[in-house]
Amino acid sequence: MIKKFLLLSFLVSSFSVFAAAAGEMAEAKSMKKGDAEKGSKLVGTCVACHGADGNSVVGQWPTLAGQRESYLFEQLEHIRDEERVIAVMKGLLNNYSDDDLRDMSAFYASQKTKVSQADEANLALGQQIYRAGNLKSGVPACTGCHGPAGKGLESAQYPMLGGQKAEYVVTSLIAYQTGERAIDEHGKIMQGIATRLTIEEIRAVANYVSGLY
Ligand code: HEC
Ligand code: HEC
Repeated sequence: MIKKFLLLSFLVSSFSVFAAAAGEMAEAKSMKKGDAEKGSKLVGTCVACHGADGNSVVGQWPTLAGQRESYLFEQLEHIRDEERVIAVMKGLLNNYSDDDLRDMSAFYASQKTKVSQADEANLALGQQIYRAGNLKSGVPACTGCHGPAGKGLESAQYPMLGGQKAEYVVTSLIAYQTGERAIDEHGKIMQGIATRLTIEEIRAVANYVSGLY
């Protein structure tokens, strides 16, 4: 009983640290909005992998359609500046200014996410992790930041997960575990969470979000 209480208070206090950090970051980065119309003319080289409307058809290529604009912009900056290393995108963003990246982000954010059908097999575990976390291992519920329908949160740069490709979600969570994507405060928040997840939990929650809307 005491153990349970201690664990609970630990969880509650780490949540408030998360919340405070998120608030500060959101304030520090007042987002300048992009122009989706202009952005639609800049994404010609992206279509082959991310799809004409940002809905990817290959599991390892993330869907960008309906993703939060603020999150997309932050990632595009990281990818262009090679802080987030994506071999197949190397050099592709070299000639784009910050405003171009904002416009591309606005374009993808304005598109509609095509949600796929999640696999029945590990759906229950996936839902449990997403909605309640894992109290034993200190995993917080994903809903707390990514939202009950997986829409994310624009003001805090929390990405959309609902409808994201399951294979890509698995790759991402492993990249947080290894530290590959722990390149800024946002990445470090996810590293702290991902390192507590088992591979079974990762596969299950990835499957669950792929069908979430
Ligand atoms: C050859 C295929 C390919 C092309 C072309 C490509 N990408 Fe990507 N992109 C990827 C892959 C693969 C990833 C995910 C890599 C990983 O596992 O982290 C990615 C990741 C991204 C992400 C991060 C998504 C997220 O959810 O964090 C953004 C944003 C992105 N690409 C935008 C673009 C834009 C804009 C272009 C065109 C200028 C482009 N990509 C061209 C394959 C491609
Ligand atoms: C405290 C807030 C918070 C919680 C709770 C949280 N996340 Fe995140 N998540 C973030 C932030 C912030 C990012 C962006 C990290 C970055 O910039 O790389 C993110 C990114 C991600 C990404 C990468 C998305 C992409 O397009 O590449 C995945 C996958 C993810 N989270 C899954 C989860 C899962 C699964 C859970 C629950 C077990 C969870 N998150 C709980 C804040 C959170």
